[in-house]
Amino acid sequence: MKTFYVLNGPNLNRLGKREPGIYGSETLETVERRLAEVADENQISIVFRQSNHEGDLIDWIHEAEDAAGIIINPGAFTHYSYAIRDAIASVTVQVVEVHISNVHNREPFRHTSVISPVTKGQIVGFGTNGYELALRSFL
Ligand code: DQA
Repeated sequence: MKTFYVLNGPNLNRLGKREPGIYGSETLETVERRLAEVADENQISIVFRQSNHEGDLIDWIHEAEDAAGIIINPGAFTHYSYAIRDAIASVTVQVVEVHISNVHNREPFRHTSVISPVTKGQIVGFGTNGYELALRSFL
C-alpha cells in the first residue's frame, strides 16, 4: 500500500481558531478526516503530522524518504527555512507544497518560498481544499 506524508508546520495546530478570515474555520482534525476518506477510497495510507518545531519537520521529511509522496505546509518556515529546503533536496520523494491562503496577495515577505525550487509544485489559495488537491495530484 502506498503511503503519503502530510506535514504541517507552525501555528497550523491553531487552524479553525487562527485568523479565520484568512485561514477559514475548519480545524486540522477535519482536514485529516477528509484526507483519510480519500485514502480509504484509493487504498492508500496517510501519515498526518503537525509540529511547531523546524527540526521535527526535517526529521519527518527524512523519515518519509521511501514514501510515495510528501504534502507539506511549512507555515512561516516556507519563507526562510533553508534547513527545510535542504531536507527536501536530500530525499528523492516528490513533495507538493500547500498554502491555505493565497500567499501571493498578502504581505511581501510571504511572496517568497525558499521551498518551491525543490518541490514538484505549489498549491496556494484554495483554502483547506488545497491538501486534497495536492493528494489527488499524486493519484
Ligand atoms: C500559510 C502561509 C504562511 O505565510 C503562514 O506563515 C502560515 C500559513 C498558509 O497555509 O497559507 O502559517 O502557510
